[in-house]
Amino acid sequence: MTNPLPLGVLASGSGTNLQAIIDAIEEGRVPAEIRLVVCNRPRALALERAERHGIAAEVVDHKAFASREAFDEHVVGRLRDKGVELVCLAGFDRLLSPAFIRAFPDRILNIHPALLPAFPGLHAQRQALDYGVRIAGCTVHLVDEQTDHGPIVIQAAVPVYSDDTVESLTERILAEEHRIYPEAVYLFAEGKIEIDGRRVRIVDEEPLADRALVNPALG
Ligand code: GAR
Repeated sequence: MTNPLPLGVLASGSGTNLQAIIDAIEEGRVPAEIRLVVCNRPRALALERAERHGIAAEVVDHKAFASREAFDEHVVGRLRDKGVELVCLAGFDRLLSPAFIRAFPDRILNIHPALLPAFPGLHAQRQALDYGVRIAGCTVHLVDEQTDHGPIVIQAAVPVYSDDTVESLTERILAEEHRIYPEAVYLFAEGKIEIDGRRVRIVDEEPLADRALVNPALG
């Protein structure tokens, strides 16, 4: 058996993606071990989730640091202290400085609630509804120095219904986030990811069912 991949997870909020990764590891679906959860918000539910599962968790309040670089340097130090090899951003609401990204080259994953490159930035589900897309979704990608931009590892698409609200669309997308984020970590942990410029090749990729998502359904 391969050694579990040492992970660090950075979160700011409710931590449901963190929970999905914890569950996948505990159920033996992902050969990884969360060495540290870092949370920049002291009251984030993500902290409670980590503690409930006996995972080391630290609050690093960004407001206590003079600059983004100083905050990042501290967090990178803590991740290195714990031997982290893959960093997962899971609803982390701070941009990373170039120094942070260079500390873990091609070793930082982010999840974004849109089919990138559509709707980067804040309020992606609201942007999708306002634009009127009929297919929305989520993306796990490698982090580079541009926001929501790095090579794409995995995406899931969901339909948008006429009566959707931000809440209902968010919920539908989130359910897919919880499926694809652990899968991305699995692919990494198993060494199945090869990066070639913007394109990510999945080693031994399963063939896709030959089916498109069409919305509205064809008559
Ligand atoms: C998720 O929907 C994630 O995709 C989004 O924040 C939410 C965090 O939820 N991230 C972004 O919008 C990043 N641009 P969680 O704390 O329950 O995992």
